Amino acid sequence: MARLDGKVAFVTGAASGIGFATALRFAREGAVVVGLDLATCPDWKQVTDAAPATGFHVADVRDAAAQNAAVASAVKDHGRIDVLVSAAGIAGGGPVHLVSAEDWQRVQDVNLTGTFLSAKAVLPSMLAQRSGSIVTIASVEGIEGAEGGSTYNASKGGVILLTKNMAMDYGRMGIRVNCICPGFIDTPLFRQVIGSDAFPSASASSTSSGASGVPRRSPGLRCSSPPRMPRSSRAWRCRSTADSPQGTRWASSS
Ligand SMILES: NC(=O)c1ccc[n+]([C@@H]2O[C@H](COP(=O)([O-])OP(=O)(O)OC[C@H]3O[C@@H](n4cnc5c(N)ncnc54)[C@H](O)[C@@H]3O)[C@@H](O)[C@H]2O)c1
Repeated sequence: MARLDGKVAFVTGAASGIGFATALRFAREGAVVVGLDLATCPDWKQVTDAAPATGFHVADVRDAAAQNAAVASAVKDHGRIDVLVSAAGIAGGGPVHLVSAEDWQRVQDVNLTGTFLSAKAVLPSMLAQRSGSIVTIASVEGIEGAEGGSTYNASKGGVILLTKNMAMDYGRMGIRVNCICPGFIDTPLFRQVIGSDAFPSASASSTSSGASGVPRRSPGLRCSSPPRMPRSSRAWRCRSTADSPQGTRWASSS
């Protein structure tokens, strides 16, 4: 039996990078995967080949009605939502005096408000079934900051605290909420940032391994709890087990 057999997962940012790798991995682990992204996904067939009952919605995470409709259609088709992975995100940086208010707002709207709206869309189903797992994607830069990363890093710091608070609010209701904070992973977003004038600290050599990670590989994680970490962390965190973590911030070194 695969580890996510019978689970229904909703993945945002599913067309590319970390979101796509998560969707594919979940499908291979037996989950029904429903993806959402602003862009179409040329490789989504790989996901449907692994798990035929999947859906993909072209929609904006800033659009509450569109996210609610995608979730409602998944619940209608599959009866429930067990997992949310909120991976939609955009880059944005620069020291504050060079960042326009519009760019600031756009990054907060996609990265932070989008995460809030994704959670808000799936929570009624999870609350009704008194179970579920929400995984948000922040960044090590949302913990530590980085030169020139004001806009992006503030949005990711917000995602971390939103995650902690949701863990407190929903833990007693059977819903686990955790945050992954990747280091640099070689994706289109990373390539857009690397070497940009706005974000001079973004380089693979600034990771602990001196190299960026790749989305398909489960990250090597360091964290304090629980003490022994399974290697294939993303899929593992979405199973319901007695010792499952809650409210954790998982920082991944690439
Ligand atoms: N790559 C890295 O080094 C890295 C490091 C830390 C955190 N992250 C985070 O991981 C997540 C995934 O990033 P990635 O590196 O895979 O990037 P990516 O660009 O490969 O994927 C991001 C996806 O989000 C989608 N998206 C953007 N805006 C959207 C919107 N408004 N509505 C719906 N979808 C939207 C894009 O179309 C894209 O498919 C992001 O939240 C990012 O901030 C990435």
